[in-house]
Amino acid sequence: MSKTTLIQPYGGSLVNLVVTGAEREALLSEASHYPSLQITQRNLHDLELMAVGAFSPLDRFMSKADYQRVLTEMRLSGGTLFPIPITLTIDKEDLPTRAEWITLRDARNDIIAIMRLEEVFRWNPQREARLVLGTTDPRHPLVAEMERWHDLCISGELKVLNMPKYYDFTDIRLTPAQVRSRLEQMGHDKVVAFQTRNPMHRIHEELTKRAAAQVGGALLIHPVVGMTKPGDVDHYTRVRVYKALVENYYDQKSTVLSLLPLAMRMAGPREALWHALIRRNYGATHFVVGRDHAGPGKDSQGRPFYGPYEAQEMMTQYADELGVQMVKFQELVYLVDEDRYEQRNKVPPDAKIARISGTEVREEYLAKGKPLPHWFTRPETAHILMEAHPPRHKQGLCLWLTGLSGAGKSTIAQALTSMLLERGRQVTLLDGDVVRTHLSKGLGFSKEDRDTNILRIGFVAGEITRHHGTVICAAISPYRATRNAVRKMVGEDHFVEIFVDTPLEVCEQRDVKGLYARARRGEIKGFTGIDDPYEAPTEPEVTVKTVDSTPEMSARQIVQYLETRGFLQS
Ligand code: ADX
Repeated sequence: MSKTTLIQPYGGSLVNLVVTGAEREALLSEASHYPSLQITQRNLHDLELMAVGAFSPLDRFMSKADYQRVLTEMRLSGGTLFPIPITLTIDKEDLPTRAEWITLRDARNDIIAIMRLEEVFRWNPQREARLVLGTTDPRHPLVAEMERWHDLCISGELKVLNMPKYYDFTDIRLTPAQVRSRLEQMGHDKVVAFQTRNPMHRIHEELTKRAAAQVGGALLIHPVVGMTKPGDVDHYTRVRVYKALVENYYDQKSTVLSLLPLAMRMAGPREALWHALIRRNYGATHFVVGRDHAGPGKDSQGRPFYGPYEAQEMMTQYADELGVQMVKFQELVYLVDEDRYEQRNKVPPDAKIARISGTEVREEYLAKGKPLPHWFTRPETAHILMEAHPPRHKQGLCLWLTGLSGAGKSTIAQALTSMLLERGRQVTLLDGDVVRTHLSKGLGFSKEDRDTNILRIGFVAGEITRHHGTVICAAISPYRATRNAVRKMVGEDHFVEIFVDTPLEVCEQRDVKGLYARARRGEIKGFTGIDDPYEAPTEPEVTVKTVDSTPEMSARQIVQYLETRGFLQS
């Protein structure tokens, strides 16, 4: 096919804020003298997409006039339809008083862009949430996040000097201009874009192939790899899936796979319009909107934030103005007896249907090591997901034993180590006393030093767990808040707090190391239980009482608990 002419970008031409060559060099040296503002990951994604024209005609974080009209009417001040506010916020204290330009830096303090300070205005998170998201329920992921944004919005001309650098999947991180050029080569003037933030299963393959057939043009598979809903499958895993599918199951001559570093708002209907507008800038004439597009799940009353087809209704209203036609689908379901997918409204009565939800994929299949069925997903996808989410008995695990000195932590930990090795787990033991001879050498027993010691153990435990290892930590760890901090570092799902519950009198009576006697004589100061606090866990996963059980019995009790949780195969 010969080269074709694609649809014009939204607003006529692609915005380009990226400065290069000698001008860039000159501006970079000026930028280092301007006052700085460190911007968030979300701001950075917005800026990066704005810079290459993905939000065309928007060329700056919104001014007050744009912002106010976007909130109430979904339009920029000049009247152009634009459904989502794109703002940059700053704390009053950080606002430079006299500067004309400021330098925007990323989390690592690298210079990204300079911005002319043309406007400063107040905004109200509750109002924005109500108008844009239709809710102020903190269960909505953006509502919760917005509370952390700063009080003032700033706006003005932007010059981007360094685009964020990526090292993963670099061959498919294409700008609007690059996507347009590939599509032009393919020779179709019609292009249907597909948005996703999830792994693609057979349903999504159906949606995309039906959409391409319906439109009779090229297909742009355009997954979001910026910020999606917290808890989504990480983009490395997802992109491996997309690549495998496109290579094996799609027509190479009419399919483009490109990654979109978008920071999603999970704003349902308004977000669907925004997605379509963005895809027009990448050359799409059509856009797939299925069930519950960009939906953030359920609110605190257990009701979905948006109706399943609310996004479609809004797209119907605005498609012409956006210049992007909607390809809409009802929920697709699998017809078991006919071995095919069908939209729910076209399912014959009494037909047997099957479906597997995202939660079931994780909990009923991946966590249990049960293979995903072929009707549901391609074997390549199943394999990649299983690799990334091993069953629970192969996942990382941190067993955190806390209790007084002499409670029996180390002995139980030793017994437990052997029992877990016997069951095939790879175990590292981080014993408090041993750790203090290397990792935490030089630290004392002040609250600060004790916390530092625990956080160091926690850091190492987190790394071991993340790499699917088993770590047993046995340290007094007297402070509840610090133990909770470690729980967070390791990850709630992989952390098992074990309270080795031995009363002080018993520990003192046993006094295996003679430390209690010395503490009582005043030879050791700040000894836990004597003249230093011990805060017992309030909700440990396991409590072992060493007064009535041997260390071996306690270790077996823990093993049994791990079996019931699926961390050990029983
Ligand atoms: S989204 O947040 O990016 O919309 P997701 O990746 O789950 O989430 O969906 C991508 C697109 O596929 C959306 O247009 C969505 O409506 C559609 N979709 C996903 N699952 C189904 C389904 N079972 N039936 C119909 N459409 C679906």
